[in-house]
Amino acid sequence: MNPLELVGKRVPFLRWSFLRLLFSFKKLTTEWQVGDGREEALAHYVVTRARAGDVDDVIRTIDEFCARRSFMIHVSEEKGAILDAAVRRTSPKRVLELGTYCGYSALRIVRLLDADCRLVSVEFNPANADIARRIWDHAGVGSRVAVVVGTLGDGDVTLKRLEVEHGFAPGSVDFVFIDHAKDAYLPDLHRVVDRDWLHAGSVVVADNVKFPGAPEYRAYMKSAEGRTWRSIEHATHETLIRDVVLESRYLGNNGVKPSPSRP
Ligand SMILES: C[S@@+](CC[C@H](N)C(=O)[O-])C[C@H]1O[C@@H](n2cnc3c(N)ncnc32)[C@H](O)[C@@H]1O
Repeated sequence: MNPLELVGKRVPFLRWSFLRLLFSFKKLTTEWQVGDGREEALAHYVVTRARAGDVDDVIRTIDEFCARRSFMIHVSEEKGAILDAAVRRTSPKRVLELGTYCGYSALRIVRLLDADCRLVSVEFNPANADIARRIWDHAGVGSRVAVVVGTLGDGDVTLKRLEVEHGFAPGSVDFVFIDHAKDAYLPDLHRVVDRDWLHAGSVVVADNVKFPGAPEYRAYMKSAEGRTWRSIEHATHETLIRDVVLESRYLGNNGVKPSPSRP
């Protein structure tokens, strides 16, 4: 058996690129790049090897890069399948993503959407946004996916851009994928709800709710269960780390006006 494998599966813990990522944890959670150029290398790998205009081949090529070259922090195979299933169940017209990185989860989502549907992804790091754009353009989906550089917590700048430049309006967002800074999950969810962008039936999927963990977000969803949200916890086990992807359906605000004063 390959020493990098355990029961026939590649184990990230035993890969140098995974250990390198752990050593860069501080940089990773402040600048959101590992620091060894792997994000830029991924863009180059995709543009030189994947069939242009073929979103499935671009996704396959990214998976190949992760298996052969470097471990990346985007959604894994197991979580990607959970995300795909939630998108299929919702059939969204407009999707908001928080946390683009190199654009992998956005590709997985957009390949399941009808041609007239749009995804807008908010990304804090302009270098990551640029890499994602190049990969999306190569996949031929650049006109259906947009990235906005900023954060929802930047004092109305990004929230306004989403409304003015991307048509976000009350009841217009069908699906949200949250996969950015863990302490921003709950405040950003409140910002989206306070803006009134969701409607009854909108679905919010949040990754890493158990590990590294977004305990306040998870507790909030528990406390709102059956009143404003109904959630399903998807337990995941790959990479030996136990995590939860939380899928929450918005039930509407029952006529209560959202409070603009929430965090
Ligand atoms: C785990 S990665 C996203 C992975 C991506 N969703 C995927 O699966 O392909 C997290 C990303 O969120 C970005 N980020 C961190 N904090 C953010 C914030 N407050 N607002 C927007 N993006 C943020 C980071 O720069 C990083 O690119």
